[in-house]
Amino acid sequence: MQQAEPAFLEARGLAKSFGSERVLRGVDFSLQRGERLVLLGPSGCGKTTLLNLVAGMLGADEGELHCEGEVIDDPLRRVHRPMRRRGFAMVFQDFALWPHMTVAENVAFGLEVQGIDRTARRERVREVLRMVQMESFAERRPTQLSGGQQQRVSIARALAVRPRLLLLDEPLSALDARLREELKGELAALLRETGVTAIYVTHDQSEAFTLASRIALMHEGRIEQIGTPEEVYANPATAFVATFLGVSNLIPYARQNGSLLVGGRRTPVPLVTREPDPPREGRLMVRREAVTVGLQGAPVNGAIALEGVCRRKDFLGDRHEAFVEIEEGLILRGFAGPGIEEGTRVEVRFASDAIRFLSEG
Ligand SMILES: Nc1ncnc2c1ncn2[C@@H]1O[C@H](COP(=O)(O)OP(=O)(O)OP(=O)(O)O)[C@@H](O)[C@H]1O
Ligand SMILES: [Mg+2]
Repeated sequence: MQQAEPAFLEARGLAKSFGSERVLRGVDFSLQRGERLVLLGPSGCGKTTLLNLVAGMLGADEGELHCEGEVIDDPLRRVHRPMRRRGFAMVFQDFALWPHMTVAENVAFGLEVQGIDRTARRERVREVLRMVQMESFAERRPTQLSGGQQQRVSIARALAVRPRLLLLDEPLSALDARLREELKGELAALLRETGVTAIYVTHDQSEAFTLASRIALMHEGRIEQIGTPEEVYANPATAFVATFLGVSNLIPYARQNGSLLVGGRRTPVPLVTREPDPPREGRLMVRREAVTVGLQGAPVNGAIALEGVCRRKDFLGDRHEAFVEIEEGLILRGFAGPGIEEGTRVEVRFASDAIRFLSEG
C-alpha cells in the first residue's frame, strides 16, 4: 500500500479564548506542501486568531500544531516555537512596511537577517521586485507609493526570504474595488508560479475562489467544511456554508416513503437523489442559478415544479431575478424567464438532482 505523503502542516483541536470568549473551539486541518488554503468566513469568526496561532504570534490554549513532523505549538507539552524560528512570512492588510527604509531595503531586510551576502541579496531583491512589477520603484520610500504598490512590495518582502509557509491576512481589503480585482488575479498567478505553501485569510468569496486550492469555511470558531472551491460550492455541508457561498434557497422538507414533502405545506415532489439516505427531515438547498421561474402551464420534463406568486423582480445586469412566494413565509429565488412580472402566478422549477440535503451545523 502506498503511504500518503505526511502533511506539511497539521492542526489538531486548536482552541483559544480571550477572557471568557472562546474564539477558537477546536480547529483541525492539514495542509500539504504547495497548497493554498483560504480561511473564509464572516467577521469575528476567528480567522485572524487562527492565522496568528499558526504564525506563532499567539500560543494555543489547547491542541497541537505540527510542521514538517515537528511540534511547534502544544501547550500540554509546553512547546511554543517563537515566530522568528518558524521560517514563515506574513503579509498584513495594512502593508506594515518600514517607513524609514526604501523599497529595496524593506525587501532586503529579511535576507540580511538570514545572513545572505550582499551580492546575492541584491540579486534576490531585484528578482522579487520584478515578480511584482516594482523593479523601477526600488529607491522610493513607502510613503511615495500608492496602496496597491505598497502591498506589492510587502508581498515581495515576504517572498524574498523563501518562507516555508506564507501567511496572508486580508492583504487586498485596504484597496479599492478595481485595484483589488486586478491584484487578486496577479497574486493568484504569483502564488501558483512560485509554488509557495500559503494560508490566506479573507471574508470575500471571490478572492477565495480565485486564490485557493482548498477553502476552509470558518464559522464561530470552527472550520465547518474544507474542500476545493468546486466541492464546497457544489456540495455545501451545512446551511451556513450554503448561504455564505453563492445565493441559495433553503427549503424545509420531510421524507415520506418514496416522495419528498417540501415546504410547510408539505407539497409532494418526486424524490430522486444520489445520496443514499438523506435525513428524514431537515432543510435542503437549491442554488439560485439552478432555479428557473416560468409561467404556469408550460410542460417541463424531469423538473420539480412548485407554484407561487412572483413578489419581486430585480434586474441583475445580464438577467432578472425573481422572488417567488410559494407559501406564506417561504420565498424562493431564481432566474426569471420571459413574461414574469410582479404579481403573476408562476412556477418555480428545478431539477431534482440540483437538490442538496444539509446537515444542521
Ligand atoms: N487580542 C484580543 N483580545 C480580545 N479579544 C480578541 C482579541 N483578538 C480577537 N479577539 C476577539 O476574537 C474574535 C475573533 O477575532 P478575529 O480577529 O480572529 O476574527 P476575524 O475572523 O479575523 O474577523 P475579521 O474578518 O473582522 O478580521 C472577535 O470576537 C474578537 O473581538
Ligand atoms: Mg481578521
